[in-house]
Amino acid sequence: MKTNITPANGKLGILIPGLGAVATTMIAGVEAVKKGISQPIGSLTQMGSIRLGKRTENRYPKVKDFVPLAKLDDIVFGGWDVYSDNVFEAATKAKVLEAGLLNAVKSELEAVVPMKAAFDKNYAKNLIGTHVKTGTRYEMAQEVMNDITTFKEKNGCDRIVLIWCGSTEIYYEASDIHQTIAKFEQALIDDDKRISPSMIYAYAALKMGIPFANGAPNLTVDIPAMIELAKLTETPIAGKDFKTGQTLMKTILAPGLAARSLGVKGWFSTNILGNRDGLVLDDPDNFKTKEVSKLGVLEDILRPEDNPELYGDLYHKIRIDYYPPHGDNKESWDNIDIFGWLGYKMQIKINFLCRDSILAAPIALDLALFSDLAKRSGMSGIQEWLSFYLKSPQTAEGLPPENDIFKQLIKLQNTLRHLMGEDLITHLGLDYYQELVDVL
Ligand SMILES: NC(=O)c1ccc[n+]([C@@H]2O[C@H](COP(=O)([O-])OP(=O)(O)OC[C@H]3O[C@@H](n4cnc5c(N)ncnc54)[C@H](O)[C@@H]3O)[C@@H](O)[C@H]2O)c1
Repeated sequence: MKTNITPANGKLGILIPGLGAVATTMIAGVEAVKKGISQPIGSLTQMGSIRLGKRTENRYPKVKDFVPLAKLDDIVFGGWDVYSDNVFEAATKAKVLEAGLLNAVKSELEAVVPMKAAFDKNYAKNLIGTHVKTGTRYEMAQEVMNDITTFKEKNGCDRIVLIWCGSTEIYYEASDIHQTIAKFEQALIDDDKRISPSMIYAYAALKMGIPFANGAPNLTVDIPAMIELAKLTETPIAGKDFKTGQTLMKTILAPGLAARSLGVKGWFSTNILGNRDGLVLDDPDNFKTKEVSKLGVLEDILRPEDNPELYGDLYHKIRIDYYPPHGDNKESWDNIDIFGWLGYKMQIKINFLCRDSILAAPIALDLALFSDLAKRSGMSGIQEWLSFYLKSPQTAEGLPPENDIFKQLIKLQNTLRHLMGEDLITHLGLDYYQELVDVL
């Protein structure tokens, strides 16, 4: 049965708290693609295809031709930041994209001017932005809602999605005020410091029925109050932390090692990066949030408790160091100590010279487009099928996350097939052979 999906008519506003390296790289990229001067490489929604039916049918449409997504030409960008730079200035400072490309879309980027941020410096001590809202958390949430309404009217948008591309906040855990909507709303009024800035945006969005995806490792929508609110207002949520760089490599490689029953004794990962994200992560409290998000990946894929002979002694260590000369060009090294037949030792070394925001930008775009699709398809609450894009996927309480990128892709593709009333693909394939035998 095909799901009843509201068509993607009219304009989609993508509103972004945090117009830094990732956001500006995404916005500039989309504007360049719209002008036909670049390609949206790395974006599954724009470049990827999906198999439908049996292999013998040879049906592989592009994802964007299969499901009714918003067109890039129908997207309008906006956002908030603690700095007042417009997106052209912010992208120039982020130094991810070359001046030639930025100049080609200069007027479009200059038109995106950040609104004042809902901010609390205690959550990102290394930022010294002054372009911020004043007032209690409750007042800030109301202002964010007003910002959204004004943006929507001014730009003639039919629909809005929010994608958090703001800095990683300091590490915090859910407490009593995060448990129910009622307690959360009281805490907003009380200006309770345990409500982080990202939660203010998420609350505002969900209250208005606007999808929210979280690209950073902070909890944000990963608390019972937000899940309850998302259900109440029938709004999709997804989080957390864009899956790029070293963790992307880990979730590609680890499932392969596990698939071959190869043992892993140690996995040492170190990174250097010099962008503003790196500066924020230089604070131990902010790094802790990132570390927790990255650490879970291997355990979830290898499941040491079920495979003690192979992974019971696994030592997993992650380091991130701020190194300004590298800018956004993050470099990571992995030393992986593995063992094979009869316990014989081997090593794998990975030296990934990556570009963090080049990997993250298409993820942010896809999350925005798929969150909008989810809303129009009547899906609400946690969108686990979007785990494919996330380092620390949000799941229903008690459900272990799936971090294996290949299983995540199968889930994503089957969700799309399900929405469009196509057969789900199990990759069993036995029926083909039966059919071939019958023909002979
Ligand atoms: N670059 C990647 O590949 C990657 C991968 C995974 C996750 N992330 C996460 O995505 C986020 C963005 O990364 P980035 O490289 O663009 O960082 P960035 O530092 O360049 O940009 C973040 C922006 O958010 C702004 N900001 C901070 N708090 C804010 C608030 N309360 N409201 C509005 N704006 C606020 C900052 O001023 C900054 O301009 C970070 O949390 C990062 O950890 C990035």
